Amino acid sequence: MMPEAAKSFHLPAKLLLPPFFLSALAFWFCSGCSSPEYSADVVYPFRPDLIVDEAPKQNQERLHGPGQMDKSIARLGELGGKTLDPKLLPAILREELDQALGKYFGTPGAPRVGQSGQKEIASLVKAMNLEGAALREGSLLYRRNCLHCHGLSGDGRGTTGPWVNPHPRDFRQGKFKFISSSPTGNKNKPRREDLLRSLRQGIEGTSMPSFNLLGEKAMEEVTSYVLHLSLRGEIEFEAIRGLLKNKNKVSELFEIIPDAEPEKETLDEFVKHYLADLLRAYQKADQKALEPAPYPKYSDEEFAESIRRGYHLFSSAASDAFGCVSCHQDFGRQPLYQYDEWGTLVRPSNLTMSVYRGGRRPIDLYWRIKRGIPPSKMPAVTAPADEEGKKIWDMVNFIEALPFPGMLPEEIRMRVYSRAVRGIAVNSKNK
Ligand code: HEC
Ligand code: HEC
Repeated sequence: MMPEAAKSFHLPAKLLLPPFFLSALAFWFCSGCSSPEYSADVVYPFRPDLIVDEAPKQNQERLHGPGQMDKSIARLGELGGKTLDPKLLPAILREELDQALGKYFGTPGAPRVGQSGQKEIASLVKAMNLEGAALREGSLLYRRNCLHCHGLSGDGRGTTGPWVNPHPRDFRQGKFKFISSSPTGNKNKPRREDLLRSLRQGIEGTSMPSFNLLGEKAMEEVTSYVLHLSLRGEIEFEAIRGLLKNKNKVSELFEIIPDAEPEKETLDEFVKHYLADLLRAYQKADQKALEPAPYPKYSDEEFAESIRRGYHLFSSAASDAFGCVSCHQDFGRQPLYQYDEWGTLVRPSNLTMSVYRGGRRPIDLYWRIKRGIPPSKMPAVTAPADEEGKKIWDMVNFIEALPFPGMLPEEIRMRVYSRAVRGIAVNSKNK
């Protein structure tokens, strides 16, 4: 049998290769992947690291050093944040939760979502392509392509993780940044297409590369696996957080799923009902992309006016403006690091750079502005319904022109770039 990879070289079918050459070729293609399967005793570890219950509100002027993420998280309490230590959970609850997570999510070698015989969960699982075969393929693809950054359990702490910034996403809170789902009723879950976009294009300006060459089928499967890790991680996160905050009372956990009617108030029932609740939210998010208002037609003069309005919306603190400048100071050229919901530092983007993590199409920017970036605490804009679409397009027109001085109307160009043009270092110490 010729290795898969060799077939794509279109070797003539009749070419007789000496066996030693074939095995050398196989070794070359497969070095490092001789055993793609997980052995049966590999399990997801019980979460060992701190849970960030509340991130500090204060800003920072600079990032912590490479490899210091967990140390920095351990100090959040001193800065006004709150962390909880999963190791303080009583052994009996820990075991019960571990068992329930194992029952509903399996292992890296045999991942699943839900249990057979659960009608509603099974139909959601099917609709969302989270069935066993896709997850098993996804798990192997993840192991080879993603694990060194995103970690075995999706904790963002793979071997490469601590050394890059932004840190690879910790999927275990079920939170995503670049979403285009409608703003209500879906717990800010992404559409499947949002995750696929990050895979196809990579996340510009970060270490996350594009995986387009894996092909559509593989990207679908690994996306399913990311959802599996996110569901498992979020349930584990909320269970541990709820127990530690409420004196280990299991019954209190059900408060986050008020519609659930559990047979008994056990951790197993919590995992089951919360899983169904989350699956519904993901499915709701996936139903419909947020529809942008139609793009207005502008003459050249009207287009310049739209950019002027966008500048005003961005920089003014007036009640009819958006005041983006409160975070993106000096259009983001000032480093004003803030804590995100993972307790890591995030910098309001430098919008003069033309680098966009969530995609650079006008519609990507529209979604970012209309939806905000919830876990990074960038708020969604609000405006009266009849003005909103026009205002967001003004904002997009301004953001798209901002990195290119020649595209800005003269007086706006001077306001944005005059200090840089005069060669004055734009630095908080040098204002
Ligand atoms: C070299 C490191 C690296 C590798 C390899 C990598 N990622 Fe990422 N990934 C990142 C970083 C960094 C981010 C976070 C960017 C941010 O927070 O803005 C990220 C974020 C994500 C996100 C979140 C997007 C959002 O909207 O919040 C998804 C989904 C994702 N990665 C999936 C994958 C998958 C699937 C693979 C493997 C096929 C993979 N990544 C491989 C570094 C990596
Ligand atoms: C509370 C602080 C805050 C406010 C207010 C804010 N932003 Fe942001 N913004 C951020 C942060 C933080 C990031 C980086 C998020 C990340 O990558 O995780 C960001 C990123 C962005 C990005 C880059 C998106 C991408 O795909 O990389 C754009 C564009 C943007 N903001 C525009 C705006 C606009 C327009 C406004 C006003 C309507 C605004 N922001 C208001 C904090 C803020």
